[in-house]
Amino acid sequence: MADRGMALVTGASSGIGRATALALAEAGWSVLGTGRDRAALDDLGAHGIRTLAGDLTDPGFVDAVVAAAGDATLLVNNAGTLAHAPFLETPRHGWRGVFDLNVHALLDVTQGIARGMAARGSGHIVLVSSLLARKVGPNTLVYAASKHAVAAIAAGLRVELRPHGIRVTEVAPGLVSTRIQREVTHAGVKAGYAALPFPWLAPEDVAAVIRAAAEAPPKASTDLIEIRPQGQP
Ligand SMILES: NC(=O)c1ccc[n+]([C@@H]2O[C@H](COP(=O)([O-])OP(=O)(O)OC[C@H]3O[C@@H](n4cnc5c(N)ncnc54)[C@H](OP(=O)(O)O)[C@@H]3O)[C@@H](O)[C@H]2O)c1
Repeated sequence: MADRGMALVTGASSGIGRATALALAEAGWSVLGTGRDRAALDDLGAHGIRTLAGDLTDPGFVDAVVAAAGDATLLVNNAGTLAHAPFLETPRHGWRGVFDLNVHALLDVTQGIARGMAARGSGHIVLVSSLLARKVGPNTLVYAASKHAVAAIAAGLRVELRPHGIRVTEVAPGLVSTRIQREVTHAGVKAGYAALPFPWLAPEDVAAVIRAAAEAPPKASTDLIEIRPQGQP
């Protein structure tokens, strides 16, 4: 099997990140996955994936991740959270938590890893945003704002990092069946999900497009992939 170098996947303990870590390991990357759920990370260890447990909103943990993954040739910024509820009912800590992880921690990890890639003159950074990086629906204002920021970060990184030989891919999924839906506690939002008349994507569907972008030849830069359940507007 090809030795593709080292991939750092954030949020690898669950959902899209876990599926991506497994897909990349299968494709020949040496994978380091992060998350907070130690038991879930231990399970990844059984698949030959190295793991680090901690909270990415803690700058000390980000430093530890960057130190452990300084040689990464591929970074998949996947860890994320949401606060889907009507704006008037969302507590302040709700949006602070979303921006702390989806935006601030993503910037912290990306800068640390991108500096190493720039010094070596090559690398690939994937950012998992959302279809809500380009539109806003009811009850999604805070999350959509954070993902609009991720899209802007991806575009800005592409401009600044291209001269350093670094490719930047934004992957924007629609609805994917994962643990993140447990964070939705608002009854009206949950009822809206239950009424949707189409099957949701599986995490493996998104992992497959991330793997394909990562496996593209160095001369090919996949800038943006939107992937949605057939039927989702
Ligand atoms: N599911 C969807 O419908 C959907 C759609 C579009 C985009 N996305 C995006 O896809 C990405 C992955 O989401 P998912 O659906 O796969 O959700 P998930 O199953 O809940 O996975 C989220 C991952 O992020 C990690 N994480 C959460 N808070 C963290 C923190 N403070 N520090 C470190 N790690 C943290 C979680 O690890 P621990 O639980 O171990 O902390 C977990 O590994 C997110 O960026 C999300 O916004 C999801």
